[in-house]
Amino acid sequence: MKYRRLGKTKLKVSVVGVGTWQFGGEWGINFSQPEVDAILDRAAELGINLLDTAECYGDHLSESFIGDYLSRRNRESWIVATKFGHHFHDRFSRTTHFDAQDVVKQLDASLKALQTDYIDLYQFHSGPNEVFDNDELWTALDKQVQAGKVLHLGTSIGSNANVHQTQASSSINSQAIQVVYNRLDRIPEEEVFPICLEQDLGVLARVPLASGYLSGKYKPGDVFGPTDVRHNHDKEATLRKLEEVQRIQAEEVPAGVDMATWALAWCLKHPAVTTVIPGCKNPAQVTANALAADLAEDNHPQARP
Ligand SMILES: NC(=O)c1ccc[n+]([C@@H]2O[C@H](COP(=O)([O-])OP(=O)(O)OC[C@H]3O[C@@H](n4cnc5c(N)ncnc54)[C@H](OP(=O)(O)O)[C@@H]3O)[C@@H](O)[C@H]2O)c1
Repeated sequence: MKYRRLGKTKLKVSVVGVGTWQFGGEWGINFSQPEVDAILDRAAELGINLLDTAECYGDHLSESFIGDYLSRRNRESWIVATKFGHHFHDRFSRTTHFDAQDVVKQLDASLKALQTDYIDLYQFHSGPNEVFDNDELWTALDKQVQAGKVLHLGTSIGSNANVHQTQASSSINSQAIQVVYNRLDRIPEEEVFPICLEQDLGVLARVPLASGYLSGKYKPGDVFGPTDVRHNHDKEATLRKLEEVQRIQAEEVPAGVDMATWALAWCLKHPAVTTVIPGCKNPAQVTANALAADLAEDNHPQARP
């Protein structure tokens, strides 16, 4: 594994993390604790130290699986990133709640679910600018940082062209941006990444496999069951993406290299990108994803102290 510093923080994150939206049950599988344990144990064996979860991957369900796991392992060896701003109601159904009082309650619920007394990175979960521009919210969160419940604040931008929230980061003490970035969607290269480099913000590239399409295992026309979030993706757009994946597979992926591994390494080449957080459904996927670190450059700017 390779490690990079997350922006101005002192955190040294593995260049490949584990995204855990999947544990919330919206990707066609309901996970059990032993299945989650196997995924996280494999990640630990491979040197992965970063987990990304959220309040609304199930009703703190993904966090609860992680918390149960951490309670039986070494909490301090993990960097846990979670998020705030939503209440989960049912599969594919949540409401937004970004007012300061509610967010502090959400934080306490996350700490309880994660069975920990601190969160390494607490991220604004893709809310609109109207709720982001709220001094009361950031003052309340600053108090949580002072109290030691949160080590660092971050912003997961909803649109990957959200310049407003990226630009405002340093002023609200947010030290990392989470953004959709992958071989099919390079929009952050235009405006968001230059700001991240300028402000020395850490970058977590999310959806780095384009929801699994960039693994190369799906073909144009493939369909997903109703309990899989991809069932709700626009059919025409998915078809076009899968056709583009076939072209990339034929023209860009070197022979003998697993396409998922290649797609993650592709993201890690950008000087602004600190880490990728692919969602993983089993230990074999974790293994393939971790191999991307071998292809990542040693002289990346954030690989230096
Ligand atoms: N607003 C936000 O803040 C936000 C939004 C979205 C995601 N996220 C975070 O970002 C993480 C990653 O995004 P994502 O999970 O939506 O998309 P992703 O990482 O692009 O794709 C994940 C899917 O790819 C497939 N996959 C993973 N590794 C593979 C491998 N080695 N070989 C083949 N298939 C593989 C798995 O599904 P199959 O095996 O079923 O194909 C998995 O569910 C999430 O888990 C979550 O933590 C945050």
